[in-house]
Amino acid sequence: MGLSRSKQNAPVAPATTLFLFGAHGDLVKRLLMPALYNLFRDGLVGEDLHIVGVDHNTVSDADFAKKLEDFIRQEAASKVAQGGEEPLDPALWGSLSKRITYITGDFLDDSTYADIDAKIKSTGTRNAVFYLATAPRFFSEVTQRLGSSGLMVEDDESFRRVVIEKPFGHDLPSAVALNNCLLKVMSEKQIYRIDHYLGKETVQNILVSRFSNGLFESFWNNHYIDHVQITAAETVGVETRGSFYETTGALRDMVPNHLFQLLAMVAMEPPAAFGADAVRGEKAKVVGAIRPWSEMEALANSVRGQYSESSVDGKAVTGYRQEDRVDAESNTETYVALKVMIDNWRWMGVPFYLRTGKRMSVRDTEIAICFKPAPYAQFRDTDVDSVAPNFLKIQIQPDEGMWFDLQAKKPGPTLDMQTIELGFAYKDFFEMQPSTGYETLIYDCLTGDQTLFQRADNIENGWRAVQPFIDAWAKDPQVELYHAGEDGPAAADELLARDGRTWQRLG
Ligand code: BG6
Repeated sequence: MGLSRSKQNAPVAPATTLFLFGAHGDLVKRLLMPALYNLFRDGLVGEDLHIVGVDHNTVSDADFAKKLEDFIRQEAASKVAQGGEEPLDPALWGSLSKRITYITGDFLDDSTYADIDAKIKSTGTRNAVFYLATAPRFFSEVTQRLGSSGLMVEDDESFRRVVIEKPFGHDLPSAVALNNCLLKVMSEKQIYRIDHYLGKETVQNILVSRFSNGLFESFWNNHYIDHVQITAAETVGVETRGSFYETTGALRDMVPNHLFQLLAMVAMEPPAAFGADAVRGEKAKVVGAIRPWSEMEALANSVRGQYSESSVDGKAVTGYRQEDRVDAESNTETYVALKVMIDNWRWMGVPFYLRTGKRMSVRDTEIAICFKPAPYAQFRDTDVDSVAPNFLKIQIQPDEGMWFDLQAKKPGPTLDMQTIELGFAYKDFFEMQPSTGYETLIYDCLTGDQTLFQRADNIENGWRAVQPFIDAWAKDPQVELYHAGEDGPAAADELLARDGRTWQRLG
């Protein structure tokens, strides 16, 4: 299902033993198991997929499978009650769950890896994928042990792969160190670094739309584009992740990964093919071309915000500093707005404005491409007092689609204009199967397609571009408060106003 194939001709994934490290964590029950179930429903994984949970708690195979089933059944039922998705199919689940087993083991204990080896031998398939759905502190520990116990050794007829969740490092030096550590015991071809944004259909569609419509390429450059805005606004707060978020903040959590993936999709050069090497090469290049700000420039080109308590739709909403496991005087940012420049021929002089925040007014992930306005001169003797620029809006979620703002004449005897929208909504053209976004990524890993996974150089280039903000902020830890339910602090508007621009309205 990666960019190089279509689902109609997608083959069933090869027989594999899939080890889920961190089997009792949220990711496994909320996203990975439902995705595996959906892949099984769609015939994209077969009866020869063996799923093995690995974690320190002691449970039997049957209890582990039952715990997953109860959770997935309940979630599916509550979605059905809200009018969406399908209930869990007992026959389908029964067939999948027969091949779910569990290994009780400490990630730091060599005997766990001996048990894993024995499990691979017992399933009769030598292909194995090790999915690290664990806390990041285990990434290097687990991979070193997978390497030293010989579990990463492949031969002509079998593969061994590792999937690593984000956060991949917490700054440039730690990301480089983690890459070095992985590459000591396995090759780049065996490493699948996940950014779940790449599992979203709308994100994959950016490439397809750009490169399959000749029209776009002709104006996709600094001659016609004035600036680009990339937004990921959330209404949720930090929920139960206070302690994680305290040391992470919005910049690390969203920018070098999700927002830079969106930026790369919009700004990369056309790849020679939709294969992993070509696509990832172009993405790494464009992220590597982001201008490295000095610390002074980083301060001038960034805004940090933090949500404070407020009332949203008549309900009291907790401020970040009052959240569980958050310091009452915390300066961790829950909102960030940045201006970045890409120093290459295509984008020279075109600012990319990025913003992301929690507890904003609406959930809205979108890319707005603003074109240079038409000259005003010809309207001078009319009632029109300005010509609004055209915007192309790529709506990632929710209400997935693409909209183009154009100017049109309002009917009537005088020359008056109005902005109208040409639109494409996914739901009007395609039937979207219920999915978690992880289906494509898991399937691609099982079938060996790395196109939608991050290569080491892409990750390092991303951290290199945000490092000046991290360094500058560490010396000047200040956030501006915004009320929960508002769209970030006033300074974010000033960041654009300074350049004579305004943010697109959210929603
Ligand atoms: C995760 C971040 O990677 O992405 C979360 O850690 C954030 O803080 C989430 O909420 C957003 O993902 P999505 O798919 O809801 O846009």
